[in-house]
Amino acid sequence: MCGIVGYIGHKEALPILLKGLRRLEYRGYDSAGVAIAHNGTFKSVRAVGKIDNLAAKLQNENIQGTFGIAHTRWATHGGVTEENAHPHTDCSGDIIVVHNGIVENYRELKDKFLKGHTLRSQTDTEILAHLIETQYSAFAEASADKQGALRAAVQSALSYVRGTYGLVVMHAKHPRTLIAARLGSPLVVGVGDKEYFIASDTSPMLAHTQQVIFLDDEEMVEITDTGVQIFNLQDKKIDKHTEHIDWSEAEAEKGGFANFMLKEIFDQPTVIKDALRGRLVEDEGTAHLGGLNMTDVDMRSINRVILIACGTASYAAMVGKYAFERLAGIPTEVEVASEFRYSDPILDKNTLVFGISQSGETADTIAALREAKRKGAFVRGVVNVIGSTIARETDGGTYIHAGPELAVASTKAYTNMIAVLVMYALQFGRLRRVTVATGERLVKAFREISVKMEQSLKIESEVKKIVEKYKQYKNFLFLGRGVNFPVALEGSLKLKEITYIHSEAYPGGEMKHGPIALLSPDFPVVAILTKNQLYDKMRSNIEEIRARKAPVILIATEGDEQAKELADDVIYVPPTMELLEPLVNTIPLQLFAYHMAVALGKDVDRPRNLAKSVTVE
Ligand code: AGP
Repeated sequence: MCGIVGYIGHKEALPILLKGLRRLEYRGYDSAGVAIAHNGTFKSVRAVGKIDNLAAKLQNENIQGTFGIAHTRWATHGGVTEENAHPHTDCSGDIIVVHNGIVENYRELKDKFLKGHTLRSQTDTEILAHLIETQYSAFAEASADKQGALRAAVQSALSYVRGTYGLVVMHAKHPRTLIAARLGSPLVVGVGDKEYFIASDTSPMLAHTQQVIFLDDEEMVEITDTGVQIFNLQDKKIDKHTEHIDWSEAEAEKGGFANFMLKEIFDQPTVIKDALRGRLVEDEGTAHLGGLNMTDVDMRSINRVILIACGTASYAAMVGKYAFERLAGIPTEVEVASEFRYSDPILDKNTLVFGISQSGETADTIAALREAKRKGAFVRGVVNVIGSTIARETDGGTYIHAGPELAVASTKAYTNMIAVLVMYALQFGRLRRVTVATGERLVKAFREISVKMEQSLKIESEVKKIVEKYKQYKNFLFLGRGVNFPVALEGSLKLKEITYIHSEAYPGGEMKHGPIALLSPDFPVVAILTKNQLYDKMRSNIEEIRARKAPVILIATEGDEQAKELADDVIYVPPTMELLEPLVNTIPLQLFAYHMAVALGKDVDRPRNLAKSVTVE
């Protein structure tokens, strides 16, 4: 995701835009740029890296003007380079745009409309500037209302676009006019005293106004010095009221959440859709992950899959193992990266190795992948950060599109990694033994998963009550079976890393082979007992625990009244297909760890001893 800010008013725009970008840096920090209208043209400056680099570059420029736009990039198409930084322009330089989102059909649009155009970047966004250019000339000649020509050209251009956008457009021939449109990426208008703002969230404007208008999907806005007009994409005017925002600037950066971790937990139902977007093929009951760079023949030649990762990513990999073996019937191993490299792995050209990493910079995982490549395996990445080392060094793979994950404790990246791995397993499985009916059921479950995750988030108040009851305990045991064992591991890690409370996780069936000796009334157990093929087995394990008088907190499926007889506390989650249960069942455990940390006064976003990306071995 990227950050956008625009200003039109009576103050110098540059300082407002730069400060606004800093408020939005959490949305992306690969590169940044600004364009200020000045004497009938635009002065544009862009820089790779964080906002500080752009600010340093601007020190040497004396750009004045009271009207402009700015952007901080989270790369999706095109590497992290200055020519790929926004803003982007059309051939003439008259039209200048900033964009947050993904133009899925940018190649088709380029082939269909942009023959003869001079493209300067590898981004999908630049296509939009040229597409508006192709539409504008027709409207400018035909339209008596010249002012409306730019708006009409943007509407026409967007009618061809498939994907998502938060788009802001300026045109040299329309001085002091900002056009913006929204589909799938947020945009909010700030209404000040003879000054107006447009941004990806309210944080850049709250120092100037608390009166805002939130755009909804398929709405656009035309902003001039005389005010704000909202239209739909068919140019019908829409009346929208302004809202009063009473967040502080700092809170607004986190979308009103107390910290990034909570924001990122609540991001999950939204970003899971970004992971799935354009990758599920309903009518074939399969998935298609374009970046795999393997032919069907290559894919059929694979007789072994190895998923390499660290920490939370390794627990996502464990879910991937279940999916690959159950759907594709391919023997699959999960290897902790720091062990893999020194274990003299036996690999060959029929082995497919995935490196799974949010940051794409984890030294252990990078080293392991280099070893796998050296030994001749297919090596692919499943990463979040575009253009990261793992993304660049592997011969293909898939971005999980979780957006910047700033809290050290990983949450939304974990669930997005699982979604991508299960889609890969489906893609391989449909080449082998998965029937179209089974594939269609999984695709349908994927289509419903965002709503289920949203429902799972609604148990937050229940979790807070349970935390109050258990916050004095010094030890916890997490139990799960099948795909829920990795969920237990992840819940245990979340608790450890942000509350510093000791916890362990075991497969439910393993507990009686030793760990049960730990149990007492002072050693609570958090167990996942959702309705699936292992329900009865897990239920027996929980009864063994009850016999030892350990307190039990259960994650159970909505409607399972029996669960209440087995536990001191029950958190209910919605049902889903077993392979997707981790996407729903993990959320209460994330919230449990989060609220426990808050109750204990811990620094949730920056826990002690940890770093967001472990770039040392
Ligand atoms: C997750 O909460 C931890 N911060 C940590 O285990 C992390 O998952 C691990 O270091 C791997 O990081 P990566 O996904 O960026 O490779």
